[in-house]
Amino acid sequence: MISPAFSSEEIADTLRPIEQARWLPQRAYVDASVYEQEKRSIFDNEWLAVFHHTTLPNVGDYRSMQIAGRPLLFVRDESRRIRCYINICRHRGMAIAEGAGHCEKFVCPYHCWVYDLDGRVVHTPLISGEWANGTVRLTEVRAEVLVGFIFINFSKDAPPVATKLRHLANELTAWNDADLEVMFETTYSCRYNWKLMWDNAIEAYHVMGIHRGSAEDDIPTHLAYVTAPEDAQNYTVLHMPYRENRIYKPAGAMDAIATIPNLPPWTKKEARFINVWPSIGIFGRQDFLTGYFVVPGDNIDEIQVINTIAVPKAVKKLPQYAAYKDAWTKLQDLIQQEDMRPCERIAKSYKACEEWIPGPYAASEACCWHFHHWYLKKMGVG
Ligand code: FES
Ligand SMILES: [Fe+2]
Repeated sequence: MISPAFSSEEIADTLRPIEQARWLPQRAYVDASVYEQEKRSIFDNEWLAVFHHTTLPNVGDYRSMQIAGRPLLFVRDESRRIRCYINICRHRGMAIAEGAGHCEKFVCPYHCWVYDLDGRVVHTPLISGEWANGTVRLTEVRAEVLVGFIFINFSKDAPPVATKLRHLANELTAWNDADLEVMFETTYSCRYNWKLMWDNAIEAYHVMGIHRGSAEDDIPTHLAYVTAPEDAQNYTVLHMPYRENRIYKPAGAMDAIATIPNLPPWTKKEARFINVWPSIGIFGRQDFLTGYFVVPGDNIDEIQVINTIAVPKAVKKLPQYAAYKDAWTKLQDLIQQEDMRPCERIAKSYKACEEWIPGPYAASEACCWHFHHWYLKKMGVG
């Protein structure tokens, strides 16, 4: 039995109805012991989204990542499935691959043990016996694909991601993920807690201040609202209706390079951000899907945010594609830079000042209120 990271007094105000509730206590963002419990209570058993599957298009393509303190190795195997292994050599614990690349077999750089793409040890130089007879393997982590995004789960008992996130799959099935390919992927290293990223990313209240020059003209704060499906407790939807006669897009860029057929009618009227805790935000538009992946770091005050856009394959052959890609890459980077500044500043405030008194939730911060309630429940105190 894990003892709760928070006392009931500490979080009583957060658990009130939204009109009377107060933000999470400061300690939730800075206390290393809280993060240790988060690893066990959240990151060890929730589905964690990591990247779009088309970033590993070919058999033998691999990439390594560190997630909540664990070194992982992703590879597309001979059957074209994405596999995820703990990136620790079965000999003495070296990482068998770093960065990203392509190979037919992995060779550990320390003493040259060889692994096939199924994670089997197939050669152990100068060591005979059972070690290389195919029965010794890298430890595997569950990896499943949903709407083109790779999700992992460290728990053997968790339901399949398609069951757990069936609402998400239903909502996004019209985008026909089999036809989507990554247009770009950018990784940001951020020195703040993973919840701070979500606190910022899932509310529209900050758009009129932080994104005044980049988004407020198209998707203004005052039109935004939140819906939360009752039986899908780990996700909410932030609706950001377009201002009249406008659409959310880079300044001067075309509305859409090619419209994906049979999308729901709302795609003409609003930007819709589907936020799935603890690890992915998805923005569906007429011509693409965007994924924001939150990769928890080794410590409480570090994350990586991976931003990607996936487009229909045919779009890449259009003459306007290069300009379109450039415009969206720049806008996504601008938005991310704008979002990182307040998160970094707030992280400093929380670190510096135990006396910060949590403030109220605005109606357009309802996503945060839902997120905090989900979080406290997962932490055993909600
Ligand atoms: S640690 Fe990998 S071969 Fe020795
Ligand atoms: Fe933002």
